[in-house]
Parts: sequence; structure tokens; C-alpha cells
Amino acid sequence: KILILDFGSQVAQLIARRVREQQVYCELHPFDVSADFIRDFNPQGIILSGGPNSVYEAEEWKAPQVVFELGVPVLGVCYGMQTMAAQLGGKVENSHKREFGYAEMRAQGHSKLLEGIQDRTNEQGHGLLEVWMSHGDKVTELPPGFKIIGSNESTPIAAMADEARRFYAVQFHPEVTHTLKGREIYARFVRDICGCRGDWNMPNYVEEAIAKVREQVGQEEVILGLSGGVDSSVVAALLHRAIGDQLTCVFVDNGLLRLNEGAQVMDTFARNLGVKVIHVDAVGQFMGHLKGVSDPEQKRKIIGREFVEVFQAEAQKLPNAKWLAQGTIYPDVIESAGGKTKKAHAIKSHHNVGGLPETLNLKLLEPLRELFKDEVREFGVALGLPHEMVYRHPFPGPGLGVRILGEVKQEFADLLRRADAIFIDELRAADWYDKTSQAFAVFLPVKSVGVMGDGRTYEYVVALRAVQTSDFMTAKWAELPHELLGRVSNRIINEVRGINRVVYDISGKPPATIEWE
Ligand code: XMP
Repeated sequence: KILILDFGSQVAQLIARRVREQQVYCELHPFDVSADFIRDFNPQGIILSGGPNSVYEAEEWKAPQVVFELGVPVLGVCYGMQTMAAQLGGKVENSHKREFGYAEMRAQGHSKLLEGIQDRTNEQGHGLLEVWMSHGDKVTELPPGFKIIGSNESTPIAAMADEARRFYAVQFHPEVTHTLKGREIYARFVRDICGCRGDWNMPNYVEEAIAKVREQVGQEEVILGLSGGVDSSVVAALLHRAIGDQLTCVFVDNGLLRLNEGAQVMDTFARNLGVKVIHVDAVGQFMGHLKGVSDPEQKRKIIGREFVEVFQAEAQKLPNAKWLAQGTIYPDVIESAGGKTKKAHAIKSHHNVGGLPETLNLKLLEPLRELFKDEVREFGVALGLPHEMVYRHPFPGPGLGVRILGEVKQEFADLLRRADAIFIDELRAADWYDKTSQAFAVFLPVKSVGVMGDGRTYEYVVALRAVQTSDFMTAKWAELPHELLGRVSNRIINEVRGINRVVYDISGKPPATIEWE
């Protein structure tokens, strides 16, 4: 397995993805983990990520010295290269001008890392690589024992190696897709140089995960809040496979779910798989507490708080439960080194089940905490969950509560659910569902005038939202075909009495957010 030390790079998670694509297990940890941690991790290789700092400005942003003493291969990327150079006796300088974007790099000399990897050759027969650069500083003097293995005009030392010690470093970012041969470079490092076998794959992982849960839980009982979302569904399927009836799921209908969601969850889990699921109808309770509340953050707080209430009440009926299972996934777990120094600005509070473990006094079981989202999906498929469920768009914890602007009323939720279902239906039929990352309808509590048959109507508006994004941090609105939008609009207005106008949201994120609240 490979250890990645994160120096606060925006793309450190991508390094982890690239390594796992090679079917090699890896973990990402902050760069300042202890020497003992690194030794105990027992990595076959170490990767030092990029980061926003300068080696001569941020003294403490160094790789622990043990990294260079374990005798395992090390790959430095961008800042990782600079700190490697500085720590091993080379020199790093500010180049006064940032190099950002595409660059061409010439492979130089022989190296196990880059040899034979090229996009094309120049007249002299040198291999050329198309790479993605993003740096201000650069290495200007090699540390003893190193040689140059890649260079270009602006960055003469763009890649370096000490093959005897198996230390490699590149100034560019092989983890981004703009570096066309990035995948091969990581393959070289983890497979050929580190000698990792590449036996980390889903079917094996499923077996391992089942065994691990059994060992952890023993004969004890587990409860899980099942929401119908991807993560909790996959956890339910896994736990059911591992411990059968020792698992009890609690499904809370808060009145803010999608059309038929409760029935689908009961069908898939209770009926088909035979999972024990307690279906709690808490619609009245949620609606009661939301009455008269129109502030988005206030609504989120209430929905989160009531969920905890309901869940706790159910949990107390199961005195034998010793474990609380959660669908925490790897991106939730990673403490990025960048995150330690920068506090992200809180635009919306995304709490879902905050506070549960503390108040319930249960042990926490998080069997997906090593997996990325797409791995969770693969895992779900490997466990036999329906493709449709596993590849569903994300749905926010507060549900329709943040898609009904202002005060939430049951009547609004009912209208919205039906409009939303029509939209999703048509997207699927037109093969657009998988081409969008998230699509949904939003209820606007304003009335506008329309005409239907011979009569005047005065009814509500629904907005359609469909976005494409890879990380949900930024997103662009999907350019859905006009005839598809037309069909959706027609169906909603004809089939959902109470809605007489449909609009399409053409705002990107930023400046808008994906949800309307
Ligand atoms: P925004 O609206 O912030 O959404 O652009 C980004 C992603 O986060 C989801 N989202 C939430 N998820 N609880 C959640 O679990 C929340 O309160 C929440 N608010 C937004 C949103 O659906 C999108 O995928």
C-alpha cells in the first residue's frame, strides 16, 4: 500500500484516485503525521503532494525525515518535489513568474519513472510530454545523488531522480487529466518502482469488508439510519450481508422525500433483501415544527434536530444495539492539510446526523470510510444493489425542505414531488439522467396567471434545475435540449393541477448554488 502525504493540495484526492485506479490501496494523510504513524503504516511507497506554500517561507511544511529513511520509493509532486529537494540538500527559488497551465516537457536521460512515456518526439528524437504545471517556485539546484530526468525552457529541472535511493520528483501534476500520460506515470511509480501488486479490487474488497464487519461487531446489534441515498443504502446492503438480523435499519419519512421514496426503500430492503427496517412516519412532527419558518438555515436546523429526535426515540426501543452504522465516505474523512490552516467559508450548513453518536452512547461503525464516491457505487453494484439506486443523483439531507422556498407546507411538498418525478422520468427516457450530475425541481411559492381551456388560472411556479459537475463545488447548468424541456413543462402543467408555469434555471455555481436554499 501507498502513503500519500498531503501538503494542502487542491488535487491531493486525485492522486489517491490515480493510485487506486492501479488497484493499489492507498491512504491520504496530512504531511505532519508522526514518524511512528508512518513506520506503522508500513508503506511500499510514499507520495508527497503539491501545496500552496513556499519551502523557504514555511519552515514547518516539511516531510517528516523518516520518509527519506525508510528505504522505500518516494515520489514528490510539485511542492512535494520542492520540499524533497530542499530537505535533501538542493536549492529551491522563487521564479518571480508563476507557470500555470499546459507545458511541454522534454524527457532527459534514462529513468525508471519516465522512460518511454511520451506524447510525441521532437526532431532530435527526444520524447516530449504534455504536462500541467502550476507553480511559482522551482528547484534550481539538484540535491546530491540526483539527476535531471525532465526539463523545459522555463523549468530546467522539471523532473529529477535519484535512482539508487528510488527518489523521484516531478514539478508538474501527473494526477490531473491535462497531463495526458499522468495515469502511466502513476502506474510506473506504484507498480514498477514500488512493486505493488495491484490486487486491490472490488470483489476482494467486498469479502474483506464483510470479514472486517463481522470481526468488529461480533454478536452485537447495529442500528443504521437508512435514507434511501447511495451511501446508507450501500452500508445497509453490506451489513445485511455481513451480520444479517443483527442489523436494524430506521427509515424516517419526514414528508420531504421524493415521490414513492419510502415505498421503494421498503421494497428494495425489507421485501427483496429481507433487511429489518423500521419505517417511521414522522411527517406530522416535521411539518408541525416547520410551520411558519421560512429562513433556510433555520429550516435546516429544525430538520436536522427533528431527525435526531426521531432516530433517538427509535434507538431507545432497541436496547441491545451497541453500534451505530453510518455511511461516512473517504472524502468526509480526509483531513486535508490545507483544511487545517484555511477555514472554508460556510455558505450552507450541511449537517445531517450531527450529534447522534455522542447522545446515543453507541460505538460508531463506518464501513465505507476508505472509499471514494465512485468506489462506493461499484461496491453497491458488487453487493447486488440495483444500478438505478446506486447511480442515483445526490439528494440533500434536508430533502425537499430546501427545494420549497420559504415556508414548507405539505401541500407544496406534494406538488413538488409530482413535478420532480415527471422531470426525472423524462430525463431518464431521453438518456439525459446520467449526463447530468444532479437534476430536480424547485417549488416557488408565488402565483402567476395562466389560461387553460377557456378559464383563467392563478397557480404556482416550478423551476427546473439540472447541473453538470465533478465535485459539486462548481457546476454549470446543463444545456438540456429544448424539446425535452418542452415535454417536461407540458407534462407538469397538464398533470400537476396547481402548477401553471415552469421555468428553467440557467445559473452556474458560482455565483448561484446548486440548491436554491
Ligand atoms: P449547494 O447548494 O451548496 O450544494 O451548491 C452542493 C451539493 O450539496 C448538496 N446539499 C446538501 N447536502 N445537506 C446535505 O446533505 C444539506 O443541507 C445540503 N445542502 C446542499 C446539494 O444537493 C449539492 O449536491
